Amino acid sequence: MMDDGVVGKISQQEWLKPTEDGLQNALHKAFQSKGGLQVKNFLHGTWIGHPLHVILTDIPIGSWTAAIVFDALDSMGARKEYKLAADAAVTLGLVGAAGAAVTGLTDWQDIDPPARRVGLVHGLLNIASAGLFAGSLLARRKGKRSRGRGLAALGYALSVAAAQLGGNLVYEQKIGVDHSEAERLPSEFEPVLSESGLGEEKLVRAEHKGTPILLVRRGPQIFALAETCSHLGGPLSEGKLDGDFIQCPWHGSRFSIRDGHVVDGPAVHAQPCLEARIQNGQVEVRKSNCRVATMPTIETEPLPRTGTAG
Ligand code: FES
Repeated sequence: MMDDGVVGKISQQEWLKPTEDGLQNALHKAFQSKGGLQVKNFLHGTWIGHPLHVILTDIPIGSWTAAIVFDALDSMGARKEYKLAADAAVTLGLVGAAGAAVTGLTDWQDIDPPARRVGLVHGLLNIASAGLFAGSLLARRKGKRSRGRGLAALGYALSVAAAQLGGNLVYEQKIGVDHSEAERLPSEFEPVLSESGLGEEKLVRAEHKGTPILLVRRGPQIFALAETCSHLGGPLSEGKLDGDFIQCPWHGSRFSIRDGHVVDGPAVHAQPCLEARIQNGQVEVRKSNCRVATMPTIETEPLPRTGTAG
């Protein structure tokens, strides 16, 4: 992992702020239309429940590692096929790098400081690395193999530095991980709120041992989700309820209140869903596998057991 001092130094580079603001604004505008939102969801990885960027970054890292190995074998005067293998690996890495750049930029537009600045530098290093590998490919095509190998080595060094910043973003700054605190939700029914605390079609924040839970009453039904947004921890109870969907106030992710599935990113992880019921004037909830969007079965009056059943 990259030294914390390096990340700290990057975070202090205030002169980057106007670039960050301008780029994020431009990206938000670019994805504003309905079609743009669909593209954005695709690039985030909403459809696979996992950040697409993380998958695509493996392609350049793996390919360029292979290219460096084949270049080393080639420079030792070994078989001619190593040249072809090295060139193919550089090319494949460039294709993967283009995908990783587009998805990374899409994710980055919804990241806040201080991670935003580290993400920007991570991206710039990757672009520089890809530029060097592109130069390497051109040199190889012109028969300048030593130059091609040199440029690839430089590009690889930059990509390693960029990957370390990427590691910091995920493991230290928790970008791309599920923030919903699913593991802290009760697995057995536990009281979280007095029944009188519910309001029709109102977003209500309840708590179980310090873990916030979102409750929505709709007629005889009660929907319950983890209240902490899976994207970056936004408070869903301060968001907007629109029909069956709750929108996070921080970056606009939308989730179904019925089963927690992601409707629109940047979130990619579903919002954990809970089963709710009324017992002795208390709303009780427990974790439920309600990812399959089926309507809850009404079991008791006046506020029956709700949530959704998997
Ligand atoms: S915290 Fe980012 S969309 Fe909720």
